[in-house]
Amino acid sequence: MFKIDIKIAPSVLACDLSALADESIKVYEAGAHMLHLDVMDGHFVPNITFGAPVIKTLRKKLPILFDVHLMISKPYDYIKDFADAGADIITFHLEAESPAEETISLIKSFGKKVGISIKPNTPATEVFKYLPHIDMVLVMSVEPGFGGQSFIEGSIDKIREIRKEAARLGLDTDIQVDGGIDDKTVRLVSEAGANVFVAGSYIFKDDYKKAIDLLIKNAEEAKSL
Ligand code: DX5
Ligand code: ZN
Repeated sequence: MFKIDIKIAPSVLACDLSALADESIKVYEAGAHMLHLDVMDGHFVPNITFGAPVIKTLRKKLPILFDVHLMISKPYDYIKDFADAGADIITFHLEAESPAEETISLIKSFGKKVGISIKPNTPATEVFKYLPHIDMVLVMSVEPGFGGQSFIEGSIDKIREIRKEAARLGLDTDIQVDGGIDDKTVRLVSEAGANVFVAGSYIFKDDYKKAIDLLIKNAEEAKSL
């Protein structure tokens, strides 16, 4: 019924951050579809990464889609900063303090795509009512905060539920999955209906192109859409 494209989003959290621009260009040239930028505030999650100024300088270096994952307590207050910095997709957490409807509208007012993310303990049904109003759902398959954690199996059924509901509503919503994605787990989540795959530690090892190609191949083989 729908043609839902598989996309790979390397998370730069796992790269050599002292060479952020060069590393980003490398994954772009290796075939990544978007760059996943993990913003953490040390409050919503127990870790601090980078913010809009870093994204703004990186924006000048490469033309890839910027997929900004906000793990911050008050996303509404910072949407303008990230929009101005050059984000293409802005994803905020449903568990954050900002009202979801207003945050969706604000992101759209800047002409950006909207993603809503849920943590491992948040039921899939919580995002259902937002599906007609957003472009992407991000299902976290680890507790947000750190790269390199093990994949949580419970995320598979959540992806299945969201894909089923999106299909019921006639929507071709992107379903992104983030945390512990490698050449094996990508099959499980692709089969369940995810189509956008974030991977940090799996991609930023040695051969970026080989890793991205294998993720695409295995996701394509497993997909049920
Ligand atoms: C975790 C971040 C992820 C993380 C993924 O809070 O949202 O994007 O960098 O890293 P890996 O792929 O190593 O699990
Ligand atoms: Zn992320």
